[in-house]
Amino acid sequence: MTNGKINTIRGWAAKEAGIKVEPWTYTPRPLGENDVEIKIDYCGICGTDMHILKGTRGTDLFPVIVGHEIVGRVIAVGKNVTHVQVDSIVGVGAQVYACHKSTCRECSRGLDPHCPNKVLTYNSVYADGKQAQGGYAEAIRVDGNYVFPIPENLDLAHAAPLMCAGATVFAPMLHKGVKKGDRVGIIGIGGLGHLAIQYANALGAEVVAFSHSPKKREESLSLGATEFVDTSKPEEVAAIRGTLQYLFVTSNTDPRNYNDFVTWMDIEGQIILLALPQGNLELSPGVIARSKVIITGSFIAGIDDIKRTLEFSARHGIQPLIEKFPMNKVNEALEYFDNGKAHYRIVLTNDGKTDIAH
Ligand SMILES: NC(=O)c1ccc[n+]([C@@H]2O[C@H](COP(=O)([O-])OP(=O)(O)OC[C@H]3O[C@@H](n4cnc5c(N)ncnc54)[C@H](OP(=O)(O)O)[C@@H]3O)[C@@H](O)[C@H]2O)c1
Ligand SMILES: [Zn+2]
Ligand SMILES: [Zn+2]
Repeated sequence: MTNGKINTIRGWAAKEAGIKVEPWTYTPRPLGENDVEIKIDYCGICGTDMHILKGTRGTDLFPVIVGHEIVGRVIAVGKNVTHVQVDSIVGVGAQVYACHKSTCRECSRGLDPHCPNKVLTYNSVYADGKQAQGGYAEAIRVDGNYVFPIPENLDLAHAAPLMCAGATVFAPMLHKGVKKGDRVGIIGIGGLGHLAIQYANALGAEVVAFSHSPKKREESLSLGATEFVDTSKPEEVAAIRGTLQYLFVTSNTDPRNYNDFVTWMDIEGQIILLALPQGNLELSPGVIARSKVIITGSFIAGIDDIKRTLEFSARHGIQPLIEKFPMNKVNEALEYFDNGKAHYRIVLTNDGKTDIAH
């Protein structure tokens, strides 16, 4: 063991289901040989934070500190850590541990988000029974495998949402091989969706943005969409029928809408489910058979995909549109997000006044 700098971490925790968090302190796991301790400067608010806070994912791990779009500065490293040092600027996303054993079916194929022993950044438990706590806090201590240096030309507050939202949408585009000439639909122009438009555009695709918010038309086009479809206008939706090779679903829309989504797809088109709406999807077998549509999903991003997301974003100048709230205004920020006002990602900022040398 190496001594970390912080013995107790102060953060903002939910004690029960709801979107209110309050100051709370916990003792992190000891700083192991492979671990890194980070003072948090920025943390994005992800739609998944909301699901967990509200208890819609059936969590019973309260108190929970959510937040998994973290950027900060390294303040201590275990003795085996070589890829970052004290003072390195780094990010942490939605996962903080996987076994990486050669005998692990998932890790050995680079599928670390699916490792049976994985630990997510929050709402998750380590093998020793200790609960992982996330980024609405002054610091975090995690396995160095899940600590990523931030490329120099990325602005740090803007880099935070790339750690989950960015990597979550870019990873399946890479794995599916989205390319020039493909017609790619993005439904839900929020934190994930507005980044998805930019990545698909940078990969050379024609991008169709679908939204139930007509006010997002101009901005979607300026972010790189070639078309914008107001999903409340049947004539706009009808014009898209049968034309998409891919549809990335980032909208928490009614799960009964999926039969409509299938009709937008080219034969053998792929619908990639990223959002986690409540309830089961409603799909008619006949609609699927006739369209030969492939319905799949994608879950966060593994180590290689996060590295590729950061590198690609830095090279193509891709960054989220953000609004900053000080960490101590986190409850106002959560309410603002929950009211659908975020434009498009809220990033909580730590003001640097927090004394972490307990
Ligand atoms: N698969 C994964 O690994 C993964 C990773 C991260 C997040 N997620 C999930 O992805 C989803 C989107 O996350 P996000 O952070 O992008 O959220 P967000 O910023 O709130 O965006 C969600 C978008 O969904 C659309 N929407 C349609 N109907 C809605 C309704 N009734 N209520 C709220 N939104 C509605 C809105 O877009 P329009 O106004 O354009 O219609 C909204 O901007 C969440 O379910 C989150 O849990 C999944
Ligand atoms: Zn997330
Ligand atoms: Zn594994």
